[in-house]
Amino acid sequence: MTKKYYIETYGCQMNVADSEIVASILGEAGYEPVTDIRLADLILVNTCSIRENAEQRVWGRLDLFRSEKKKRPRVVVGVLGCMAERLKERLLESDKMVDLVVGPDAYRDLPLLLETASSGHSAVNVLLSREETYADISPVRLESNGVSAFISIMRGCNNMCAYCVVPYVRGAERSRDPGTIVREARDIFAQGYREVTLLGQNVNSYSWTGNAFNLNPDPSTAEDEDSVSRSAIAGKNDTVVMLHDPEVNNMQNIGFPELLEKVASIDPLLRVRFSTSHPKDLSDDLLKVMAKHDNICRHIHLPVQSGSSTVLARMNRKYTREWYLGRIAAINSILPGCSLSTDIIAGFCGETEEEHQETLSLMRTVGFDFAYMFKYSERPDTRAARLMKDDVPERVKTRRLNEIIALQNELSASSKKADIGKIVRVLTEGKAKKPAGAMMGRTSGNKVVVFQADSIRPGDYVDVIVTRSTSATLIGNLVQ
Ligand code: 5AD
Ligand code: SF4
Repeated sequence: MTKKYYIETYGCQMNVADSEIVASILGEAGYEPVTDIRLADLILVNTCSIRENAEQRVWGRLDLFRSEKKKRPRVVVGVLGCMAERLKERLLESDKMVDLVVGPDAYRDLPLLLETASSGHSAVNVLLSREETYADISPVRLESNGVSAFISIMRGCNNMCAYCVVPYVRGAERSRDPGTIVREARDIFAQGYREVTLLGQNVNSYSWTGNAFNLNPDPSTAEDEDSVSRSAIAGKNDTVVMLHDPEVNNMQNIGFPELLEKVASIDPLLRVRFSTSHPKDLSDDLLKVMAKHDNICRHIHLPVQSGSSTVLARMNRKYTREWYLGRIAAINSILPGCSLSTDIIAGFCGETEEEHQETLSLMRTVGFDFAYMFKYSERPDTRAARLMKDDVPERVKTRRLNEIIALQNELSASSKKADIGKIVRVLTEGKAKKPAGAMMGRTSGNKVVVFQADSIRPGDYVDVIVTRSTSATLIGNLVQ
């Protein structure tokens, strides 16, 4: 009988993409996914450590998994991802009855670790790697809407922002072979997907120097057949041969703008998004590539974190308020109308009232269309935890966060209101939650649009005239 696994994913889109890699590896090992935990032989939780409350949520889930394991002692419970990396064996020592702990660079080892865990021993692999990108693994799209997919283009992070746990739990930055990225994007387009989001902690520092596998985006060339025949000859080691055959591939020097252009050139009907950009590395070259291709979405997620240069210096962000505003000016001039979203942290170490006001004023100046907003949460072993005091009182952090959220609600509402009367091109994703019979999709600028339609299917592009808006949604009618 095939074994069944159940997986839950917390955290960022990168983690969603990782769960899809895990699903692929488990599928090869003979496991089948289930959505009912009571049917699972293996229960996995892919975890996030970014803030204390992200970890709290996972501890809560582990309580539930423990009660399932008490009922069925042969069930294997595994913790994957960032919390696994951060806490390592300590997860086994907790009272949560965890059998398996696997860090983000160790998923290839899952089949072996599962054998150990199934025989009643605990199994741990939290080694971080300098090379692992899972480039050759085709993700299994677990909870996909069949229209948009994530493609991981790099792993890890070298930035060392003072507050951030990511470099410790995800290791050093490494870029994935661009040929495998283009191939994956081409494949999912052929399967009917119409949108890809290229993912990395800092996509602007994507860099590939070497032989790229099959970079030609035109599927009609013989390249694919070629690699198939080569792999038949190469037998077991085909992946290695395909990725590094110097005869077919010239040395390539590829940065993010070039990669983005190659993916955008696959087909004008394939929308391309990317996330996340670091303001210090967002280049004009990238903006110019975006301007050249209509199918690269007019949306940039550019986490500012704070509007105060002194706070940014303490955060080790390596840019100032003025630099950030300069990048926004460049976006506005090269890509007029481009949507902007951001991440903001309220109450970082030593943040004064004036510094907080600078964040509010920067938000007003930029007029973000959307933002993710957080209270600073000290993470063990980070630079801030080691060297700075988490000295903004909780109630002050809460008040500042509430001010930031209230302002963003106004900005989001006016950004949507400005679209009333416009005709927007929407990629349909599926049924809207409400009203009955309505469909939903997104604009190039990543705004959600709800519209009434009968014969429109997910993946269809439609034009919608916007008639109303809320702070989160545009509402409109199909333009026939
Ligand atoms: N506390 C609060 N927010 C954080 N982020 C990262 N680390 C922390 C932390 N320790 C936020 C940043 C980042 C987003 C993914 O999470 O805004 O951009
Ligand atoms: Fe993603 Fe960071 Fe959370 Fe890991 S810690 S899941 S990289 S947000």
